[in-house]
Amino acid sequence: MRVAIIGQGYVGLTIAVGAAGAGHKVIGFDINAGLVSELNKGESHIEGIANAELSRFLKNQCYLATSDSSLLEGSDVIVIAVPTPLTKERQPDLSYVHAATELIQRNVMSPALIVNESTSYPGTLRKEIAARITGVIHLYASSPERVDPGNTQWGTKNTPRLIGGLTPEAVIKAKEFYSSFCDTVIEVSSPEVAEAAKIFENTFRQVNIALVNEFAQIADALGISGREVLDAAATKPYGFMEFNPGPGVGGHCIPVDPTYLAYVANEVGVPATFIKRANEVNLAMPAYVVKRVITGAGGSVKGKSVVVVGVSYKANVADTRETPAASIIDLLREAGATVTWHDPLVGTWRDEESSDLGVCDVAVVVTKHDVVSATDVKKSAYIFDCTGSIAGADGI
Ligand SMILES: NC(=O)c1ccc[n+]([C@@H]2O[C@H](COP(=O)([O-])OP(=O)(O)OC[C@H]3O[C@@H](n4cnc5c(N)ncnc54)[C@H](O)[C@@H]3O)[C@@H](O)[C@H]2O)c1
Repeated sequence: MRVAIIGQGYVGLTIAVGAAGAGHKVIGFDINAGLVSELNKGESHIEGIANAELSRFLKNQCYLATSDSSLLEGSDVIVIAVPTPLTKERQPDLSYVHAATELIQRNVMSPALIVNESTSYPGTLRKEIAARITGVIHLYASSPERVDPGNTQWGTKNTPRLIGGLTPEAVIKAKEFYSSFCDTVIEVSSPEVAEAAKIFENTFRQVNIALVNEFAQIADALGISGREVLDAAATKPYGFMEFNPGPGVGGHCIPVDPTYLAYVANEVGVPATFIKRANEVNLAMPAYVVKRVITGAGGSVKGKSVVVVGVSYKANVADTRETPAASIIDLLREAGATVTWHDPLVGTWRDEESSDLGVCDVAVVVTKHDVVSATDVKKSAYIFDCTGSIAGADGI
């Protein structure tokens, strides 16, 4: 099939490579000209896609990155994989989805299957995409992306894929496309069910993470190890699923997607109280971490050297979107500490460079990448570990 993917970020490039590997002819469309030029040189910007793999697809002409929207015409399948962030007022921002829809409306005159993989609330495919495209009768399906960057066990191929179509023909075509590079394709009765399943999955994680974060605080106040309790509870072979506490939540999904669910809930007059409370608990974690660090460091960090270890939002990825490290660093600086950070994966962030992991008064481990040595972290006088990976350290 001739496939065009709108957006060549984490999701779009992953799907582009999956489809090219299945023998489709793939156009990776992105408005970021710098990214397009890097991709066409065979330079991948995401973990899990090797430059050699990308170069092979470019050489075999199975893949081409482009900013030329006229190349969308003639596609059998068009996948939308653009950002769905929150506005300043923390409301769903569908402007990127609308822009991608507009591109299709303006450039695609022959009928295609249009699939939305961008995460959004139920009703997005029907009301925000299909209803805005007139003149040409396309097929429409929703297949929300479930990729977990950095996860080496579960990827595009073996993570079951949900499909909900606006019509039976759309479902048939979407199944044909996705089953060419995904092991398991699951049909649901409507695009709304597929869209809602994706945001409920992430809401489930957000709420459970908030629950263990609150529990970690209770356990500490009780003088017991929260992590030991959670490990003990996880020995129950049924009815329990282990989540781990941490410094907050980051990335594009967990801090954002539940708010999309809360938005539609509000539209239909149902208060999404769990989501609101979970957001509050998770957003308060950086302040809790800093309070514990100050106590652990002897009552003050004023004038002390503090290194924050790992500033991306999760281990072994370089993504700093919504990372709780930002608030932790800001709050430590407000408390008078001299703060540097060490993250070899991130390198440059907020106009600052990753520093060496030297000897400091305090080390705060926010994210523990495999390449960061626990022995080097332990050079600092006091260590506060938010990850449960530095043996013997104080932490959550
Ligand atoms: N990153 C993840 O782990 C993940 C997982 C599951 C779902 N999602 C969802 O997938 C969607 C995409 O996320 P992502 O992480 O790939 O985002 P990203 O920011 O990594 O990439 C998005 C890309 O879209 C491009 N873009 C923006 N507007 C465009 C337009 N009008 N035309 C063409 N390209 C455009 C940007 O330049 C960027 O390269 C979001 O809805 C996100 O919630 C992300």
